[in-house]
Amino acid sequence: MTDSRDVASRSPAMKDTDQRSRNRGFFVSFEGAESSGKSTQTALLVAWLREQGFGVLQTREPGGTSVGEGVRDILLAHASKMSAQTEALLFASARTELVDSVILPALCEGKVVVCDRYIDSSLAYQGYGLGLPIEEILAVNRWAVCRAMPDVTILLGHGRELAASGTVEGPDRIESRGGDFHRRVRMGYLQIASRDRNRVVVVDTSPGIEATAKEIRSIIARRLRAKIGYDQSTE
Ligand SMILES: Nc1ncnc2c1ncn2[C@@H]1O[C@H](COP(=O)(O)OP(=O)(O)OP(=O)(O)O)[C@@H](O)[C@H]1O
Ligand SMILES: [Mg+2]
Repeated sequence: MTDSRDVASRSPAMKDTDQRSRNRGFFVSFEGAESSGKSTQTALLVAWLREQGFGVLQTREPGGTSVGEGVRDILLAHASKMSAQTEALLFASARTELVDSVILPALCEGKVVVCDRYIDSSLAYQGYGLGLPIEEILAVNRWAVCRAMPDVTILLGHGRELAASGTVEGPDRIESRGGDFHRRVRMGYLQIASRDRNRVVVVDTSPGIEATAKEIRSIIARRLRAKIGYDQSTE
């Protein structure tokens, strides 16, 4: 996988000025299997960034727009029967809507965008999980997100143990898939991380919520320092 600058340079519609505007912001995505702690860590990071005085946009996938929330309902409903390809395209379409109407405008305003799931979820779930060709999923999604690849992606591990601590609601259509599917997803995520080490940072959540949050803060502070010269304690 390539970084944001490579992706942008492949888009014919992308002008230099557009890319400069996008680069005013900083984009973090959270990834990981079900119950790996994405929502918990997204909320903690957003709260910390706000304390530090950053303008922050928090969003989630699929959803984050009215079109996206509609697509989310279709995707997660048990009654929805669809092919793997349809599923992949629906996720990509919700993502395009989120990029165009929410993520890019916030990045151009110089905000930090924190997104709970993004492009790697499609690679992990529809690619590695359902067996669609990875390069095809990547191609569709590069088109879907062209100007908005994350500056850094936090991949949370140890979802299996966390699953035991449970969520109150029953599993949705995708969560209900069998153990082999979820094993392939977890392995897929690790492959994605090894293919794109600059962008994807794997974080082990087993030390607990606070210790994990502290590690994530220090990763993000390092990246912000490299990008905008930000320098603050992450304690
Ligand atoms: N590092 C951790 N150690 C122990 N428990 C944790 C940790 N992180 C999260 N949890 C707990 O695990 C459960 C799932 O966390 P969370 O909802 O943040 O995961 P998620 O990845 O957003 O799940 P989903 O895929 O369902 O959206 C919650 O009860 C949360 O308190
Ligand atoms: Mg969540």
